[in-house]
Amino acid sequence: MDAATSAHVLFRAVSHTYAARAGHGAVRALGPVDFELRRGEFLGVVGPSGCGKTTLLEALAGLVVPSEGSIEIDGRRIAGETPPSIGVVFQEDASFPWLTVVDNVAFGLRRSGLPAGEIAARVDHAVELMGLSEFRAAYPSQLSGGMRQRVCIARTLVTRPGLILLDEPFGALDQQTRLLMGEELLKLWRDTGATVMLITHSLDEAALLADRVAVMSSRPGRFIEIIETGWPRDRDSTLASKPEFGALTGRLWTLLREESRKAMALK
Ligand SMILES: Nc1ncnc2c1ncn2[C@@H]1O[C@H](COP(=O)(O)OP(=O)(O)O)[C@@H](O)[C@H]1O
Ligand SMILES: [Mg+2]
Repeated sequence: MDAATSAHVLFRAVSHTYAARAGHGAVRALGPVDFELRRGEFLGVVGPSGCGKTTLLEALAGLVVPSEGSIEIDGRRIAGETPPSIGVVFQEDASFPWLTVVDNVAFGLRRSGLPAGEIAARVDHAVELMGLSEFRAAYPSQLSGGMRQRVCIARTLVTRPGLILLDEPFGALDQQTRLLMGEELLKLWRDTGATVMLITHSLDEAALLADRVAVMSSRPGRFIEIIETGWPRDRDSTLASKPEFGALTGRLWTLLREESRKAMALK
């Protein structure tokens, strides 16, 4: 089997409907989605707000059990448990308020059984990379929203997961920090060979970082188009000045415009 094209994750007719709650009817949130996430690829996912992106990510992370269909990772069907070797950066701040920056970042590693020296080295490196060196002993309540999000990104990436899922991770960051974080993510992806699924509302970010960009329909979200970016593995944000980049974001915008109108009409 060719490692470059083998399936890491397989979505088979995955749909999800949230059950009715007090005052709310059932919500058809997602699908059906049929999709093969290739091993080692960097997939960007864009779609109108409320189209089911987070639901898709949570299904893959084992946090939502899809009402229909199945998801396989490495050929094994997941059934409501968080699969091993998966790292998730959530859309909302998920830092642990009772732990310092260093302890937040070390959290997953300490449960991994790695030697203490290795843990300390990785944590130091990640804290520095995220520009948090001066705040090692600070608690999340003493940090800005963007800094807390960087703590969460570091906490996930230090464990070097084989499958990295990120849900609009850079939303709270300013434009420059966003670019730098994107480049660090690319570097990590290249160095570790991980498979990455990045949900983002920034078309530029998806176009810049991904090998393929999946465009989702309005709710219930399906993949309406998968676009190969054609970028080399060794890439950075200087791509943004290329004419191909403009053509790609133009195409994404055209696709999303129509879907976003539909999504607005649903509200
Ligand atoms: N726990 C839930 N219970 C009921 N409805 C939900 C729940 N989570 C999300 N939804 C609804 O499902 C739809 C998709 O949500 P979500 O996956 O968060 O979309 P996105 O991440 O693309 O903005 C939305 O209409 C949202 O309101
Ligand atoms: Mg979301």
